[in-house]
Amino acid sequence: LGAFIATAEAQTYPTRSITMIVPFAAGGPTDVISRIVTGHMAQTLGQSIIIENVVGAGGTTATARAARAANDGYTLITGHMGTHAASVPLYPKLAYHPEKDFEPIALLAGTPILILARKDFPPKDLKEFVTYVKANAEKVNAAHAGVGSVSHVSCELLHSILNIKPVGVPFNGTGPAMNALVAGQVDYMCDQIVNAVPQINAGTIKAYAIATAERNPSLPNVPTTAEAGLPAFQAQAWNAMFAPKGTSPAIVATVNAAAVKALDDETVKKRLLELGSVIPGPKDRTPEALATLVKNEIAKWSPVLKPAN
Ligand code: MLT
Repeated sequence: LGAFIATAEAQTYPTRSITMIVPFAAGGPTDVISRIVTGHMAQTLGQSIIIENVVGAGGTTATARAARAANDGYTLITGHMGTHAASVPLYPKLAYHPEKDFEPIALLAGTPILILARKDFPPKDLKEFVTYVKANAEKVNAAHAGVGSVSHVSCELLHSILNIKPVGVPFNGTGPAMNALVAGQVDYMCDQIVNAVPQINAGTIKAYAIATAERNPSLPNVPTTAEAGLPAFQAQAWNAMFAPKGTSPAIVATVNAAAVKALDDETVKKRLLELGSVIPGPKDRTPEALATLVKNEIAKWSPVLKPAN
């Protein structure tokens, strides 16, 4: 009878609003991508999708909560390279496992990383930045969104290449961290492009380089790290949707189809591309492809990142 009821529920799903947990503050990359995509998905699913920003511990507080939520399709999470990969080696006592405790739904966006600084930070290009932060490693600080967040992990990678250990300044997301950068309260940040494009275009912050092989069409004047003299620093993150483990395959398929439809929508595509996101191609949009990505990313980061404490 239980199985019969579950199947019947999966067939009528969703009959009420869905909560989408975003593990960082409003206005950051994960929040912005979630809002763009779920705004369209809600039309397809015929129910509202309520974004709930649950902050703390580099996104792991919210992700632990999502792992324990009812697996009925009414609580989902937008996770990312940090919450669903880098957190594994960084938090030995992590209260969830990205593979064991979640059903992957769909990859939403690739997000190239940029090296950004407050507008009046002295270095004028990446070469000067490298010289400056090496010479002033005791004085400079790097904003990030908590241990295990993309901004934290990306700058850890940068710092290991430069062989420096500057002070990190944690925020509940790079939305608030970006506000501090714009206000000149912190020196620099390694952030996902989505958060950076509007500020770079408004001239409120500096962008030294984008850590991808090619320049991004949304920021044609920002050089790649290779062009700017630091080819070793390559970094692109990703944001993706997950459900608690045991959510029925029928519900996962329904949510995946709505996400895929959103990614094909011209308005959604335009908005994501304007913000520099990389929209996944058809073969990268399946739950199976996301499962493989998570597995590969955990394997990639595990030997690189050491526990924070
Ligand atoms: C955010 O939405 O604030 C970011 O994804 C945080 C990060 O991981 O750097």
